Amino acid sequence: MKPKIVVIDSGLGGLTIFKQLIAQTSNIHFVADNKHFPYGTKKTSELVNIIDRLIHYFLNNQYDKVVLACNTASLIYDKYLRYKYKNEVITIIDSTIAEIENIYNLSHVGIIATNKVIESNIYQDYIKRKYQIRTTTIACSELVNLCENYDKLKINAFIKQHFSIFKENKIDALILACTHFNIIEKEIDRFFKHEVPLICSGYGLSKQLKLSYLCFMCGRNQIFLTNNHKNYVEKIRYLFPEFKNIKIKSLNI
Ligand code: DGL
Repeated sequence: MKPKIVVIDSGLGGLTIFKQLIAQTSNIHFVADNKHFPYGTKKTSELVNIIDRLIHYFLNNQYDKVVLACNTASLIYDKYLRYKYKNEVITIIDSTIAEIENIYNLSHVGIIATNKVIESNIYQDYIKRKYQIRTTTIACSELVNLCENYDKLKINAFIKQHFSIFKENKIDALILACTHFNIIEKEIDRFFKHEVPLICSGYGLSKQLKLSYLCFMCGRNQIFLTNNHKNYVEKIRYLFPEFKNIKIKSLNI
């Protein structure tokens, strides 16, 4: 039987990873759990329930792998749910951090993520332990909301107002530790005048998956929304014109 993969995020951010995966193969389904957006400001207990329910649902509905294309969901899974499942669930934090090995002479890295991810210290602790690299962080759930609404003016104003600390602290690279920020990679890159390498979350994972089993797959790609409405579909069509032939459906779970 062919493996079927579901890629999950709370909203639009995970589509950037979906895009990379479907460039390599097909039979991948994406779920935007936009009914529960945003994840990054919710209580831990609530997130554990939401993510556990999603994983349970898909593994019991003929999916072989669940990819959590979301740092907040990956954090919750790694801390509270990993013991329940085996290798069927793939998270993105480790593979995102591993990308810093591709950057030469790194001594100070900036990290932007949801409030939940920054408060957990998961990125900061892991990086300090493994690489002895300094970190400067900003909790950016407000920016996540702007990305989900794709409010370009406010996005640029937020970057201008809050990211100067990275310039002052002279970071050598910036980790976009929330998949929503992959959508605004160009805006962030412009702010740093293309001088600071950006590490997008989940892109390391796409490379890894390519090497393993994706090449055996065939079938249709699809997008599901847990809260399906016209404006949201239009936003996806606008931001990701390459998905024009992919069906967008409702998922009531
Ligand atoms: N895209 C998700 C992440 O990578 C979070 C967005 C949210 O707060 O829902 O963390």
